[in-house]
Amino acid sequence: MKNNNVIYGVLLLLFLASFPWVLGQMSHDDDTSIPTIIDADPFNLPRLPSVQLINEPLQPVRKPRNLNEEKVALGRRLFLDKRLSPRGDISCDSCHRLNEGGVDHRSHALGGDPSRGSINTPGIYNSANNFRWYWDGRAETLEAQVDESLTSLTEMGADWQELLETLASIAEYQAMFSQTYPENGISKESVIDALVAFERSLITVDAPFDRYLLGEKNALTPEQQNGYQLFKSYGCSACHQGGNIGGNMFQLFGVMGDYFADRNPIFEVDMGRFNVTGKDDDRHRFRVPSLRNVALTAPYFHDGSVATLEQAVMVMASYQLGRPIPIDDARLIVAFLHSLNGPGMGGE
Ligand code: HEC
Ligand code: HEC
Repeated sequence: MKNNNVIYGVLLLLFLASFPWVLGQMSHDDDTSIPTIIDADPFNLPRLPSVQLINEPLQPVRKPRNLNEEKVALGRRLFLDKRLSPRGDISCDSCHRLNEGGVDHRSHALGGDPSRGSINTPGIYNSANNFRWYWDGRAETLEAQVDESLTSLTEMGADWQELLETLASIAEYQAMFSQTYPENGISKESVIDALVAFERSLITVDAPFDRYLLGEKNALTPEQQNGYQLFKSYGCSACHQGGNIGGNMFQLFGVMGDYFADRNPIFEVDMGRFNVTGKDDDRHRFRVPSLRNVALTAPYFHDGSVATLEQAVMVMASYQLGRPIPIDDARLIVAFLHSLNGPGMGGE
């Protein structure tokens, strides 16, 4: 009995002590300051109707404006076309399946080099709203990301010259490119530009959670509302925040426990941002992923190590917050995460 009290006391202290710790770990890119949430304009926020909403760590998104529909349509066609790959056997959509939440559901992406470790395919929906791209954030612009996605052996593995020759040999593309890009025609710049436009169009708006934030209180079930409160009170929203519910900062994976020692062995991709900067501080640091549509994108984490969302939430609680959370709370959080699915994305 006495022992139990001591244990509870210690647990309570750990619980309380973890708050400043987690906050202390927050860094935004170059470890400057916590990003302010309300000026996150890259997310193209609706003009906020209520003071209450301004205080929310999570924000709704709106359809992107000023997209050139012709470029989007051309980008879509390129995205779905297997002829862009050297052997004509894969398209972007083979791994980022548009009708399956934008992923391939493999723990280890098809093209990944196993000696570097297992790398999971991230979702393509809402990816354009991230502040950097790839798990380690190595691409600083969407243009750099599309260039890499086309040429990297982990993804399409194409060679620019061959790719442009292939496109030039297809009458349909000749027509589309000269119509859409009268000055450049079929060129590296226009191929990248069209794919970037298509990626920017893939924003999922009007998820039940967005409608809830904008005032439609019964857009979420009571369980989902409880789950949202827990998501905030446990501190998940310290990292998964803003309009993309993530995607706007780098954070350690294993703030409160050594995930990688526990998982073992450690591979190159597990070093995260360290592979980009070479800074010790960046070992195992990753871009915080967006949680929009996350219920549709199993398996989870950069290594695809976890099969269910419930397990992913439990791992986060242990390694990011320093305390396992009761399974009932994890289930409520999962119910809330389902409310981040865009309409028509499937799953609900
Ligand atoms: C063979 C599977 C595969 C193919 C084909 C593929 N990708 Fe990827 N894609 C991946 C993997 C794996 C990653 C993550 C790699 C990493 O972070 O190191 C990724 C990352 C991305 C990202 C970054 C997402 C984010 O938010 O960080 C985007 C965007 C993307 N790919 C778009 C494309 C486009 C466009 C194409 C076609 C030109 C394409 N991909 C082809 C597997 C693939
Ligand atoms: C200290 C920052 C931080 C906190 C706090 C945090 N996360 Fe995360 N979360 C991350 C990072 C970083 C990753 C990516 C880890 C990886 O795969 O390398 C991640 C990944 C995830 C994923 C997997 C997403 C995917 O697409 O694979 C889910 C789900 C998730 N977090 C939910 C939560 C929940 C729920 C909480 C609260 C219980 C939480 N997170 C708390 C930083 C955080």
